[in-house]
Amino acid sequence: MSDVHRSNLEIIGRDNIDDVDAILAATDIADRIDQGGATTFTWDYERSRDQLSRLYEKAKTSQWNATTDLDWETPVDQEAMGAFTTQVMPEIVETRRLAPGDPTCPVRNWGDREFARLGFELQAYSLSQFLHGEQGALVCTAKIVEQVPWVDAKYYASTQVMDEARHVEVFARYLREKLEGEYPINAQLMALLVDIIRDERWDMTYLGMQIMVEGLALAAFSLMSHAVDEPLLKRLLRLVMSDEARHVAFGVLSLREVYDSMTSAEIRERQEFAFEAGLRMRDRLVPVALWETLDVDPDAMVRWWVGNLPRSHTPILFSKIVPNVKKLGLLDAGVAEGEKGWLRRKYEEMGVIQFEDWADTSVEYELLDAVAASGTEA
Ligand SMILES: [Fe+2]
Ligand SMILES: [Fe+2]
Repeated sequence: MSDVHRSNLEIIGRDNIDDVDAILAATDIADRIDQGGATTFTWDYERSRDQLSRLYEKAKTSQWNATTDLDWETPVDQEAMGAFTTQVMPEIVETRRLAPGDPTCPVRNWGDREFARLGFELQAYSLSQFLHGEQGALVCTAKIVEQVPWVDAKYYASTQVMDEARHVEVFARYLREKLEGEYPINAQLMALLVDIIRDERWDMTYLGMQIMVEGLALAAFSLMSHAVDEPLLKRLLRLVMSDEARHVAFGVLSLREVYDSMTSAEIRERQEFAFEAGLRMRDRLVPVALWETLDVDPDAMVRWWVGNLPRSHTPILFSKIVPNVKKLGLLDAGVAEGEKGWLRRKYEEMGVIQFEDWADTSVEYELLDAVAASGTEA
């Protein structure tokens, strides 16, 4: 059964998942995409899905206002932000340690000032990808409202549309008012959004957006909130995270019901999608535009980074995705008890399987919600 899966080349267009040439080759950015799938009415208004119904009630009372719940007067010192980041971000700490004296490293002659600039730009780059990802979520959740056939899910998804608009609003405002504006979207993230939006099957929108993109975002927000000491950004991230955890929970709850009634061939397609999307999420961490801004040859720097910082693909970002994918049954579907499933082997290849038993988001969101409400740090 497991051997009928398509090959890496067929799924992602390259045999070796770490092929840097192929990763760097993606450059397409679009602003119009034809959406796949039909707009679906439901005439069954019966509220039959209790967990979704509870999540909807929770969403209604958890709305916050970006204009009044954040102190936009907070001054932001960009230099201090950059300097702090260089102390705490593992990729920069490692680069500073390894670069001097390495003739193959493009930044071997950098000093504290250049690294502080890198720290600042890396925050701006990451926040920009959050911003664009949030717009992707806004669009995808609107697609779910149109296409999902269950009334409880249409209700819930509509609250998420509002949440995502607020997230776009706060990231855009922060980048424009407090930093120096946004970087363009990363081509790998764009490719994933295109896949999700073009797919005709509504459950694929959930898997791509609610589980993969939002799962990674949740982990990334958490990491960043520990890598900045700027109070406005810290608070902003906490508020966004409290919403995101609900969004991932929405995905897990909905998909469990759908997957229960699928054939093994249909489940296989979902496994392949969870692998492809996972890899694109990982590749989107290759910050080409960032190196261009810093006048460093992106090609040489990305190669050096991938070759010298094997952990720079930051597996921890998959700490929310893998447990949720496991809970959905996708890791080991299609093989006999005790055998390794196809997706499990793929996540081993990507070096992220170690998170399979971490908390899944359907139980975690209430905790995050409480943390945001109290305004304290987890
Ligand atoms: Fe969001
Ligand atoms: Fe979200």
